[in-house]
Amino acid sequence: MAPKITVIGTGYLGATHAAAMAELGFEVLGLDVDAEKIARLSRGETPMYEPGLQELLRRHVEGIEGASGRLRFTRDWAEAADFGDIHFVCVNTPQKQGEYACDMSYVNAAMDSLAKELRRPALVVGKSTVPVGSAERIAARIAALAPAGDGVELAWNPEFLREGFAVADTLHPDRIVVGVRSAHAEKLLREVYATPVAEGSPFIVTDFPTAELVKTAANSFLATKISFINAMAEICEASGGDVVKLAEAIGHDERIGRKFLRAGIGFGGGCLPKDIRAFMARAGELGADQALTFLREIDSVNMRRRGRMVEMARDAVGDSFLGTRVAVLGAAFKPDSDDVRDSPALNVAGQIHLQGAQVTVYDPKGMDNARRVFPTLGYAPSALDAVRGADVVLHLTEWSEFRDLDPEELGAAAGRRILLDGRNALDAARWRAAGWTVRAMGRPQP
Ligand code: UGA
Repeated sequence: MAPKITVIGTGYLGATHAAAMAELGFEVLGLDVDAEKIARLSRGETPMYEPGLQELLRRHVEGIEGASGRLRFTRDWAEAADFGDIHFVCVNTPQKQGEYACDMSYVNAAMDSLAKELRRPALVVGKSTVPVGSAERIAARIAALAPAGDGVELAWNPEFLREGFAVADTLHPDRIVVGVRSAHAEKLLREVYATPVAEGSPFIVTDFPTAELVKTAANSFLATKISFINAMAEICEASGGDVVKLAEAIGHDERIGRKFLRAGIGFGGGCLPKDIRAFMARAGELGADQALTFLREIDSVNMRRRGRMVEMARDAVGDSFLGTRVAVLGAAFKPDSDDVRDSPALNVAGQIHLQGAQVTVYDPKGMDNARRVFPTLGYAPSALDAVRGADVVLHLTEWSEFRDLDPEELGAAAGRRILLDGRNALDAARWRAAGWTVRAMGRPQP
């Protein structure tokens, strides 16, 4: 019989993982402590915008017409413990208030609540991003708490999904990494991932610390790549070079590669920024802080880009924002997501607003979340409305909708035709042809 699966925590990671497991043919029970989230998921509605996820949920959530019925949700720990052979723990590990370290309270609480109810053999699989050393500590804690004792085992299986591509990344992962302590745990996880492995996804078996580190190392590398190209953008700005051409040219070297070399206002979101900080904090605890001091520089380069964008906007409107109108296109931390956590776009919009400009934001999906975080900004129902009467237009999240805008139409609505491209994603020649002055980050002005 195929193992039955529970997924603990139904945010971006958990909701997607639960739906994907049902798609792979397993019986799945999702658990969350948030009643509203459970109610929405049980109706086949996603708690966030993620392309393809709603459809996947509707294909499997029990009670929805035509659905397989393999997926349902609960808030009851005993029910989940009783149901599952394998429990995937997918709860959030945000940055601690006022500290670099990550907040493990949700993981600890979830592991404890589950362990106390485990009366039959089970494999608990951690998927949350945690500081190295956590799995070993949690394994001891579960062993002490679970009524089933030795019958319960822990494994660590980091997740590499990207928001905006979460469904495809989960169903067709580019690698599967499992930190295990027994052949039994490996066998169970091979069974879970048999379909993607048969399609060619590499299956890498490691110990606990390596599995935990693979995740933080991968995100640190990605952050480093982005800050590297943004540092080159600073040099280009100082020397008259063009960072977009530079990235294209170095990217042809296969050892460097073209991906993640898009210069602009830098990285944000719920992962990269907090993961590099938590990694530095953990290295400090291990007495290995020197190994990661470079990440402090990666973080600084990244945060500097936001400040640079504010400066460019101030220059564009004169030397003060007072009494000016600024249009901001984009609020989400990246396109195809409604996530505004540590969003560079919203951060820039907020800074400009605090310096006295009247800022109007438009984002295709991130408006509700942005309004919640920054209620004092102005919000418009479309890009055209945001731009109306603006002294300068800032393009800060590269939604495809913005690439398709008509510069003529926007030009007629804008107060002045000045565009700052914070993502190097718009066709500057097209905008210039419509009479716009275009400035982009790390690129010379013609
Ligand atoms: C990131 C990783 O890419 C995933 O592999 C990982 O699983 C995930 O974190 C996680 O830890 O859960 P995500 O946060 O969805 O995924 O976003 P990315 O696609 O990595 O983008 C992060 C930020 O970097 C965005 O703000 C994006 O605009 C920015 N970025 C990306 C650039 O500024 N330039 C680039 O060239 C690429």
